[in-house]
Parts: sequence; C-alpha cells; structure tokens
Amino acid sequence: MTDKEIPTPAYVVYEDRLRRNLELITDVERRAGVKIIMAFKANALWRSFDIIRPYNRDFTASSLNELRLGSEELGGEAHSYCPAYTEATIEEYLRLSSHITFNSIDQFRRYGARALQAGVSPGLRVNPECSVIETDIYNPALPGSRFGVTASQLEAQDGLPEGVEGFHFHALCESSSYDLERVLGAFESQFGPYLDGLKWVNMGGGHLMTRRGYDTDHLVQLLSDFRRRHPNLQVILEPGSAWTWRTGDLIVLVVDVVENQGVRTAIIDASFACHMPDCLEMPYKPAITEAVEPDTPGAVGPYRLGGNSCLSGDFAGDWWFASELKAGDRLTLEDMNHYTTVKTTMFNGLQHPDIVLADTAGECRLLRRFDYSDYKNRMS
Ligand SMILES: Cc1ncc(COP(=O)(O)O)c(C=O)c1O
Repeated sequence: MTDKEIPTPAYVVYEDRLRRNLELITDVERRAGVKIIMAFKANALWRSFDIIRPYNRDFTASSLNELRLGSEELGGEAHSYCPAYTEATIEEYLRLSSHITFNSIDQFRRYGARALQAGVSPGLRVNPECSVIETDIYNPALPGSRFGVTASQLEAQDGLPEGVEGFHFHALCESSSYDLERVLGAFESQFGPYLDGLKWVNMGGGHLMTRRGYDTDHLVQLLSDFRRRHPNLQVILEPGSAWTWRTGDLIVLVVDVVENQGVRTAIIDASFACHMPDCLEMPYKPAITEAVEPDTPGAVGPYRLGGNSCLSGDFAGDWWFASELKAGDRLTLEDMNHYTTVKTTMFNGLQHPDIVLADTAGECRLLRRFDYSDYKNRMS
C-alpha cells in the first residue's frame, strides 16, 4: 500500500523521521555524557520499538502498565515515577524498576527502605519552584503544584532523609536549553548543598531537543558544565515528546461540508475530542499539509474541521485551502504522534476504573475490570 492508499482515519508513523530524532538524541547523550531515557507517557506505540531498541532501551514509567510494557518491549533500565505509590502497587514497582522516585517525604519514609532492600535506587522528586511554562495545565512548577518537595520543606525536615540516592526535578514542557538553564540555576541554588551526597539527578522531561532551532550545543555545554561541578552525579534526562516530535500524522477524510450563519465546517471521519484531545485541551492547532496561508491568491476559507461525534465543541479551526473542500478530500493533520495516541488509549497507562452495576436492591456487581492486556492491546 502506498501512503495515498492508507485507509482513513489513520495515525501514520514515519520511520525516517523517527530515526532522525533517535540519531539526534543519542548524539546529544554521547556528547554530554548523560543518560537520556524515553518517557512512555508521550509515546508507547510498542510495535514501533524495533526501530527504537538499537538506539535506546531505557525508559521512565508513570504507572504499572507502562512499567510492564517497557520491561517487556524495551528491556533496559526502568526509572519509575508516580505521584503516589500504594500498598497495592509498590511491590510490583520494586520488582520491575531500577530507580524509583518518590514525590513526597512521607512516600519516601513509607517505601524508601523497601526500595533499598530490593536493590532499587530511591530518589526524591524536588520542586525548584521555577516556572518557565506559559500553559498552566502543562506547568509542573505552577504555584501550588502537587509535584515534588520544596527546599523549605526539606529544611523543615532537618534535611534529606537517609537513604535518598537521587533527586528528580521536572519543570519543563516543549522547552529550550535556555529554559533548562534557568531551572537548573534555581535547582542548584536551592538544592546544591545536598548534591554531594547523591548518586544521580534526573532532570525530567520537556527538553525538546529535536525541535528545529533547538540549541543542542548549548544543551551539551550546560550538561557538561553541570557534570564538571558535580562529578559524583549520574545525569539523567527523560524527555517524551522529543523522541517522537513530528514523526507522525493523522490522515483523515472529509465526509461532508456544512454551512451555518456563514461558518463553513468540513466534517471529517475522525474527532478532535476522541482522537486529538490536545486540540481542545491546550488548545493546539495542527498544521494541515494541504492547507494554504489565508493570503494565498485564490485561497478558499476559512474552514473549520468538525469531528464526526455529537459533541458541539468537537471542532477546530480555521484553515484555508487552494480550492473548495468536498467529501472525499484527504487531509493530513500534522504531528499527531507524541501525546496523541497515548491520550486516546489509556494515558499514562493509568488503571482504567472498573465498571460496576449497582442494582435496585443495593447489590453491586463488577461488570468489567480492565487489565494490562487491555492497555497493551489498545496501544498498537
Ligand atoms: C515526570 C515527567 N517526566 C518526563 C515527562 C516527559 O515530558 P516531555 O514529553 O514534555 O518531554 C513528563 C511529562 O509530563 C513528566 O511528567
């Protein structure tokens, strides 16, 4: 089948683009002398991992489903971070992880010793309280954030609890190396005194080194300088988006065009709510390969694209095209791999709630429990 024959709707992953990202990331890893692992939360299309494995096998997991999938399909070091572990989950995390990060001192106190006993290196997520992200729902350092221990909280505990081997901070999203520089400055000035006693520091995700214009030389310099200041620390980065940035599109078909009060909407055989949730959440407006600039001579528009669902808000816009859109036109919605396919399945690999029927007599019957095979099979 050629790309023109792909049945719609389809998420398409391009091997050449993926390889380009893999080459770039592993080159930065080598030059900076750090470990760059893959965050599953952005991409878990495990059937494409044959391409990824020769470059990288290490990953970070945010749930037991992701951890199990990573162990099965990548098989390298497993760095786990989940905001809260429970008695029901901790043993499995410890069985499969090489590193585990705790989000609070209380969580570390509860499970840190068990991690050490199991040979899993325990770390603490810290919050450098340095905000560089404009979109609030993607800002882990938003004031009042539930993520990580602040420097003042650590001080109030009389310092670092014994047994903590690493620090993890994550404060970036689609960010530049210059944003990292600011966060790193805040991190070192607040947590510097503890660093000598640690084995590793994980600088989280959000390093969008594969975006055009990203200054990878500056990143390498920044990381090399940090390593020189702290030669005892292994430095880990865990980007998600960067691995699969601009590696996939969503191909859709126009199935009808409607007009109401001068607003033209091309209805497509896909849905923003169901298949591109970031377009409504963020909102993110994808580039469409077939669209043209509004000031292009002869451009027709504006057009909204509307999802084939009953949600009134299931639309995005506006785009212009070289000619009128009509049923049967194929459109390519760009950059629909990272954070799209995972969000339309089981995001973060989080356990899907059970479905229970509570009958009129007050009896509750479990109708369905979702398990790992549901997660894995939705993924590819
Ligand atoms: C703890 C943690 N690490 C890594 C990532 C990956 O970030 P990105 O996909 O922006 O690189 C995230 C994203 O939410 C995260 O929360």
